[in-house]
Amino acid sequence: MHTLSTLQELERDALGHLDAVESAEELARWQSEYLGRSGALTTALRNLGSLPADQRPIIGKRANELKQQLQAALDARRKAVRLESIEQSLDTSLPGRLPGAGRLHPVTTTLRRMKSAFAQMGFQVFSGPEVETDAFNFTLLNFPPYHPARDSYDTFHTTRPDVLLRTHTSPAQIRVMQKTGVPVRAVVPGACYRNDQPDASHNFMFYQMEGFAVGTNIGMSDLLGAISGLSRMLFGEGRRIRFRSHYFPFTEPSIETDVLCTVCGGSGCRLCKNSGWVEVIPGGMIHPDVLRNCGIDPMRHGGFAFGAGVDRIAALWHRIPDIRLLHDNDLRFLEQF
Ligand code: DAH
Repeated sequence: MHTLSTLQELERDALGHLDAVESAEELARWQSEYLGRSGALTTALRNLGSLPADQRPIIGKRANELKQQLQAALDARRKAVRLESIEQSLDTSLPGRLPGAGRLHPVTTTLRRMKSAFAQMGFQVFSGPEVETDAFNFTLLNFPPYHPARDSYDTFHTTRPDVLLRTHTSPAQIRVMQKTGVPVRAVVPGACYRNDQPDASHNFMFYQMEGFAVGTNIGMSDLLGAISGLSRMLFGEGRRIRFRSHYFPFTEPSIETDVLCTVCGGSGCRLCKNSGWVEVIPGGMIHPDVLRNCGIDPMRHGGFAFGAGVDRIAALWHRIPDIRLLHDNDLRFLEQF
């Protein structure tokens, strides 16, 4: 039967033993010895009934406190033992694992090369929003509602009427010209989105770089010169390019620029759709209506515009046979660049 002083002895005894405990097995043994079903303290609590009535509340209270105290001491010791065992098995002299070194995405390096080529020709860099309105993406670029030219831009719409993911970087022409007026020479790179059937040269998301120069005495030859200059800086002197006429509502006349396919050398592959040529830089002379929509008088000023396909240019530069690989985010592919 316990008294306050035997409980104190029990406490001293238990805590003393606990201090010497070093392993999980010893912890378990200690626990069953003191706090287990037939442990010392449990027995003391069970035997309270046989104490004289006046002693019962005093001894009972102390025994309960002691139980909590021993439980807390056990938890603390358990933590300490675990920490010691981790420290013992931890070899801090082992070399760590190096984090993988990052690198620039091939589209980023291509964009940088293109920006620096145009910087040498005096073009500033702007950016425009990827979420656009119907007006900027189409109407102000001379695609009235229901105009059949809209059919070649199958659009991702949002739940807000007239708000969409831009299908090209051309709306940035309007935004920039409305802000800067004339003269201006600018490029605007960025992502575009189209509900196209993906194939080796199409994707639902891709990068374009819009460029334009507006002022006085700017002609078609300046457009062809800028595109040829870009091609020389990107692909070197020897790469063949060809211009052919085309149609865009916001340029008149309009052209398309093809680059001789680097993947197959012109003999035909998936990237060039077996034609030997890849369409990369459409452009033209900015339509008078578009200039008017930017507050520019087409009788006094004019200029050219183009919209370079950055993913296709990256594919031609690195001889990548399929532009979809660029945005698959597969490190085995990206690590090669
Ligand atoms: N925005 C057109 C497209 O994505 C490309 C384009 C054509 C841009 C002619 C231009 C241009 O600036 O003058 O198909």
